[in-house]
Parts: sequence; C-alpha cells; structure tokens
Amino acid sequence: MSNDRPIGVFDSGIGGLTVVNSLMKIMPNESIYYVGDTARVPYGNKSKNRIKQYSEEIVKWLIDKNCKMIVIACNTASAIAIDHLKSTFKIPVIGVIQPGAKKAISITKNNSIGVLGTQATIESNAYADILKSLNPSLNIVSKACPLFVPLVEEGLVSGEIPAKIADQYLKKLTRTEIDTVILGCTHYPILKEIISKALGDYVKLVDSGKATSVSVKRKLQKLGLHSKKNSGELEVFVTDSKNAFNKIVKKSLGLNLHLEIKSISRIDIL
Ligand code: DGL
Repeated sequence: MSNDRPIGVFDSGIGGLTVVNSLMKIMPNESIYYVGDTARVPYGNKSKNRIKQYSEEIVKWLIDKNCKMIVIACNTASAIAIDHLKSTFKIPVIGVIQPGAKKAISITKNNSIGVLGTQATIESNAYADILKSLNPSLNIVSKACPLFVPLVEEGLVSGEIPAKIADQYLKKLTRTEIDTVILGCTHYPILKEIISKALGDYVKLVDSGKATSVSVKRKLQKLGLHSKKNSGELEVFVTDSKNAFNKIVKKSLGLNLHLEIKSISRIDIL
C-alpha cells in the first residue's frame, strides 16, 4: 500500500523550513504542504490556550487539503499542543520533541543533556519530561534563548552580535557536565556554528528537526502511507504577505537552505 497525498507540515512562521529541508533530503519523493503562520508568529511567548487554538486551526486546514499526516515542525506547538491535536484529530501527528529527546539520549555519554528553546517550550518542560520518562537518571539543564529567533530572522547568524548573545545565554551550560545539547527550536540549527562555539567542541548538538524526519519516514512506512512517486513537490502557504516571507527567507534561511518551492500562496486560516 502507498499514498501519494502530501504531508502537512506547519510552523509558527518560516523556521519550520529547516525541518522541511531535512524531510525532503531523506524523502525526496514525498510532497509537502507547509503552512507558516507568519501573521501570528511568534508562538514562543504566547499562552498555552492560544498556541493550542492556532495549531488546531492549521491542522484543520491541512486536513481539508487532504494531507495524509501532520508534522508539527514548531517546537513550541509540539511542546504545548501535541496531545490536544492527537486527541482532536484522527490523522497521524508527529511533533519534534520526542524524536529530538530520543536522539539526544542515544548520543550522550555521561547522561547530561542541555535543552535550548523558546520561553514557552522551556516553561512547558516538554523536553525534560520526555527525557526523564525515557531515562530517569538523566541530568538536564534547560535554557530559554528568546533572542535567537529575531537574530535569525534579521539574518544576523554570524559575527560578534550573535556570538555575544550566545555566550551570555549559554554560559550557564558551560559550567555543567552536559555533553549533548538539543536545539529545541526551528531557528536554532541556523545558529549551529555560533552555538557550538559558545558551548565548546566537546558538546554535541542535536537538531530535533533532523531527528524528526527519520521518525516521519519510519511512521509513513509502518502505516503504508509512503509515496511511490519519483519526486515530490513543496507548496508553501503563509498567513501574512508573501513578500514578507520571501524577504526573511532570503535574508536568513536562504543562506543555509536550498529548497525548491513550487508555489507560495497567502491563505486565511479562519
Ligand atoms: N517555531 C518556533 C519554535 O520552534 C520559534 C518561533 C516562535 O516563537 O514562534 O519554537
């Protein structure tokens, strides 16, 4: 059995394209509908109820567009809304938290893991809870890094300014034993070099989006939902203007991602 319908991926904005990048690398034959909620970004400082509401509205839209599976590319939405989405909809839903946590556990040599994310992700304890449920003896240090998202969106991904901010945020982690750090936000893989420099070479970084794409592939195959097409296409849907989206992609993500986007459309979710 196979299924050529698209995978529905959503994020609060543009950052989830890092997850799409990983998905398309390991499954170039799958088509993807990506919703970036650019009108309502950021989610990282919003209330739980608001994040659940926005996520539910987007998933409804993707289901109406005949998607076969939902991937929550946004760490904040994964942390806050995944249980709500799983209990509200019948469609398979995968978030980035569990795959990222599992990957980190497979890497750490001394059972000490750091977690970076938005305010909402860190306050939710979603990563720490899953990590502890998988291995109660883990030592976990979490740190919210709220300035990383605007840095990436401004294209400030190298040089003195992001390096100083990273040093400031991450000095707490460098004083600990942690040998593995989860990049628990869509934007952070873009700052990988800066973050790695601030933490030191011996600390391994886990890209949750990358880990998630492996889980998505496995799940599609397990459910017989994988595509048999030769190549897939990426269609992007944004809730604010296409120009604003293009500008940010060019300024920041475009430097690191090489995605072929078939079409970009502006949509109204409500
Ligand atoms: N996409 C969000 C995340 O991965 C970051 C941007 C936001 O705060 O909405 O947590």
